[in-house]
Amino acid sequence: MTVRIVLFTGKGGVGKTTTAAGTAALAARAGQRTLVLSTDAAHSLGDAFGLKVVGPEPVEITTDLWVHQVDAQRRFERSWGEIQGYLMSVLDAAGVDPITAEELTVIPGAEEVLALLELRNHAISGSWDVIIVDCAPTAETLRLLALPEALGWYMTRVFGVQRRVVRALRPVLSRAAGVPMPEDSVFDAVERLHRDLEQVQQILSEKDSTVRLVLTPETVVVAEARRSLTTLSLYGYRVDGVIANRIFPEGEGDAWREGWVASQRTVLAEITESFAELPIWRSGYSPGEPVGTEDLAGLAEAAYDGADPLAVPTGEGPMTITRTNTGAVLRISLPFAQKQDVDLARHGDELVVTVGSYRRLLALPAALSRHTVVAARVEDGSLQVRFRFEQEEQP
Ligand SMILES: Nc1ncnc2c1ncn2[C@@H]1O[C@H](COP(=O)(O)OP(=O)(O)OP(=O)(O)O)[C@@H](O)[C@H]1O
Ligand SMILES: [Mg+2]
Repeated sequence: MTVRIVLFTGKGGVGKTTTAAGTAALAARAGQRTLVLSTDAAHSLGDAFGLKVVGPEPVEITTDLWVHQVDAQRRFERSWGEIQGYLMSVLDAAGVDPITAEELTVIPGAEEVLALLELRNHAISGSWDVIIVDCAPTAETLRLLALPEALGWYMTRVFGVQRRVVRALRPVLSRAAGVPMPEDSVFDAVERLHRDLEQVQQILSEKDSTVRLVLTPETVVVAEARRSLTTLSLYGYRVDGVIANRIFPEGEGDAWREGWVASQRTVLAEITESFAELPIWRSGYSPGEPVGTEDLAGLAEAAYDGADPLAVPTGEGPMTITRTNTGAVLRISLPFAQKQDVDLARHGDELVVTVGSYRRLLALPAALSRHTVVAARVEDGSLQVRFRFEQEEQP
């Protein structure tokens, strides 16, 4: 049985934690075994529920509702210890002071990787029907979601080749260079990590895994949400809806309130137009901070307004392959992207797609990898790459 996974992302402070926690509370009420997982080092989930939930294991908040704030430091030592130990020994041999060495070997993105690994563990544990992920603000989340594929690429290239070389040369090299060669256990650790990350990627590309965009009706926030929809699609993630949060209630008020209501109305119209293909849930501005399961669930219930907050989107994902008479067309949905924002290159079995400052190294499916790219264009919010099938070579 697959687990329904929903990741909540959006600009800083828009209400990701609040809406993620509220959605989780609703899921638990509906009898789903629900876990809310935070990948954000700020760990505000506990504050939202009004409880202390730090600790290495999930904490039960109420029936069927559990919270887990990943303790990156502890997990770091378990998963990366071996690899880091090796890197430190290399730096030590090179005469780098141990404290500096320790700092240098704290791999950037390690916290995010660990959050992903924790997500994987929970997803395959069989303990949950629903996992809600409260992500860090957009930029970090995008980096997080690009990681499994990027690291997989890196590990295959760097460690895959090196392992063979090192095996053969280890005795000679160690003596000659004075630098310790990695033990097999280091490579084993890298391989384990690689496998786990591949599994993360597989879990996140299931139909039951989606990303939800949280925003407030403000121009800059919406602009960022549009860009993240493009980038999420580039990486192959399905976005299943938009939560417009902190909407001022219409009604009589002073000039200040009327000003805000009018400005939000304009931006909400923009949101409706921008995200026309997605459900848009509107969440009102509460008269106070929504804290505690009751408040959070109440706010979310009003926002979803009878819609199923866990409905799995129908329709095709962001990447499709269609056969044609002479070959096939690979289509990657890139909402809002213009021709000049997109760059495409082919390197052997890979397609390198760059959109703005984000890049994806897409391993071509076997059905396409042997064929030639004959044309590409960006049109109606998608990149279409046309492949021509060559005659099969006779053996
Ligand atoms: N609809 C709402 N009405 C009133 N207050 C809200 C609403 N949504 C969120 N808040 C409040 O706004 C603050 C920020 O919300 P929250 O922590 O959920 O945002 P976030 O997007 O998770 O922030 P961060 O980027 O720091 O993780 C909190 O104090 C929260 O209680
Ligand atoms: Mg938060």
